[in-house]
Amino acid sequence: MRDATNGYRTPARLLHWGMAILVFATVPAGFVMVQEGLDRATQNALFIFHKNVGVLLLLLILVRLAYRATHPAPPLPPGLPRWQALAARGTHVALYALLLVMPIAGYVRVRAGGFPIEALDAMGAPSLVPRSDALAEVAKTVHFYGALAIAAVIALHVGAALQHGIVRKDGVFSRMWPPVAGRRG
Ligand code: HEM
Ligand code: HEM
Repeated sequence: MRDATNGYRTPARLLHWGMAILVFATVPAGFVMVQEGLDRATQNALFIFHKNVGVLLLLLILVRLAYRATHPAPPLPPGLPRWQALAARGTHVALYALLLVMPIAGYVRVRAGGFPIEALDAMGAPSLVPRSDALAEVAKTVHFYGALAIAAVIALHVGAALQHGIVRKDGVFSRMWPPVAGRRG
């Protein structure tokens, strides 16, 4: 459903900002936890945090994609150059794709490698992939390059959003901010 005057609806905004916070924690945790020389306790805590929040992100992206499929984005302001509209679309598609690929690759890497995912194990959820070092290695590579890609696309996305909010002040930023849609968005 569209709302041309107020921008994105509240569920879309809550999902955007909830996931943004979790991704802003998950990505640095991922990069830090694989550093050599990190003490064991910190590394373990970061791994537990990363894997379990990552699985939560997988559930959230499925909800978000279902919501987005049934609630198209509001139309962009008229007068926005065509290349910018295309760039925004491309960036958003890339973000959605990476938000799906990353947790799946992480899950496969961990489960195929025979490692725990504490929250799922506590619920007795069985592994959905077979134990296989070769599969774990492929998933690890996908997860690694996906990590570089998502960090780059997020930088582009946040830069563009801030440019709209601070420099152009054309209303694109307030399509998504604040996290709850007000009367005037
Ligand atoms: C949106 C979700 C996720 C994002 C953005 C993300 C991001 C990252 C990043 C930035 C790294 C460091 C780069 C690397 O060494 O690969 C990493 C590593 C890792 N992530 Fe994730 N991750 C996500 C979900 C998950 C999930 C769901 C799991 C497992 C249940 C997981 C397991 C791992 C593991 C095990 C590593 C270490 C890779 C290695 O084996 O060296 N990740 N992740
Ligand atoms: C400070 C951080 C961020 C700011 C200021 C921001 C801002 C925005 C704004 C203003 C929009 C609406 C753009 C438009 O209407 O064309 C948007 C959309 C979007 N953002 Fe962000 N964002 C941030 C972080 C993130 C992060 C970390 C992710 C994902 C990892 C993300 C994913 C998305 C996606 C997928 C959309 C498209 C929504 C749709 O049309 O379905 N954002 N963001």
